[in-house]
Amino acid sequence: MQSFKLLALGGDHIGPEVTMAALDVFQHLTTREQIPVEIDEDLLGGASWDVHQTFCTDDVAAKAKAADAILVGAVGGPEWDAIEIDGPITETDGLTRLRIELDVYNALRPARAWKPLLNKTPYRDNVVTGSNILVVRENSGGIYYGEPRGRDTAAQGQQRAYEISEYHTFEIERIARCALTAARDRKKQLVSLDKSNVMETGKLWRETVGRIARDEFPDVTVRHLLMDFALYEIARKPTEFDVVLADNLFGDLVSDLVGITAGSLGMLPSACLPGPVKSGDRIRGGIYEPTHGSAPDISGLGIANPIAAILSVAMIFEYALGRSGLAKEIETTVEQVLADGLFTVDLGGKATTSEVTQGIIKKL
Ligand code: IPM
Ligand code: MG
Repeated sequence: MQSFKLLALGGDHIGPEVTMAALDVFQHLTTREQIPVEIDEDLLGGASWDVHQTFCTDDVAAKAKAADAILVGAVGGPEWDAIEIDGPITETDGLTRLRIELDVYNALRPARAWKPLLNKTPYRDNVVTGSNILVVRENSGGIYYGEPRGRDTAAQGQQRAYEISEYHTFEIERIARCALTAARDRKKQLVSLDKSNVMETGKLWRETVGRIARDEFPDVTVRHLLMDFALYEIARKPTEFDVVLADNLFGDLVSDLVGITAGSLGMLPSACLPGPVKSGDRIRGGIYEPTHGSAPDISGLGIANPIAAILSVAMIFEYALGRSGLAKEIETTVEQVLADGLFTVDLGGKATTSEVTQGIIKKL
């Protein structure tokens, strides 16, 4: 068997801390299962800037393209906020460069309720119990990358800033297929979000998702909801949603919102993939990362919650290695460790990153 190539890019602040924890779990399970792996580590974000004066080197981009999967910690911090470089966002943000160069347009952001954490959410138990939502976010287009964008001086010395929200049919078609494939694998229900009442992109979005669903996924029930009302409904009755599809900007918003059901941002993994996946599939070249940021305020203290990174490793087992059984095992073990009361500070506990990680490894 050929070795599975994992590129680990810890990034900044707590990024390397949670990445190390996740790698421990990855190595433990791949050793146990006799899966040959090659792990390479490199720099991304501020850590890369400090050494190379760029947030992502060409070398790292090339390594990422050659890897079977890329595990990212978190990037950024106040030290690098003031650095001004000209050019598109792919130059100013290393992670964005990787997302675009690898064309990982299918961002999967799952959030579920964890029994031991129900009382860490603002919900009553009966409202959130069983909640399990997969946000499918279009990750390569829309208002994040539309041209032109910029800033100029308009009449009377007013500053004018602008960006364009644009989508081509093929971009909507391909992400619709990703969401519908995921929905077919789960409860065969998809909710697609848009602002088709005011936005042209929203109209094209609704038409296109509707057409792909009718023509290619007649077994999946699709509901189209306006974004504003959808947020209200998802917040109110999270258990009534399963797979939720949204464009880049709306997907960014709704994926944080559904995170509330998990009890902490420290519990949210993600996978950015270059195509659709159903269980048992293997896809190369995905970027796996916790949804949380680099948390400079707690960096270096060894108290960051490693679970989002560890659950991102679970997603590597699921989608890059096609081993959903191992992914499930990680998830169940995380729940047991939480049930034992092993909480990091974000969950109101005192456990360290390493205590939580070792707790998980011991049970695996
Ligand atoms: C995310 C983040 C990023 C995004 C930022 C940091 C550029 O919010 O991954 O959700 O908006 O995509
Ligand atoms: Mg976000």
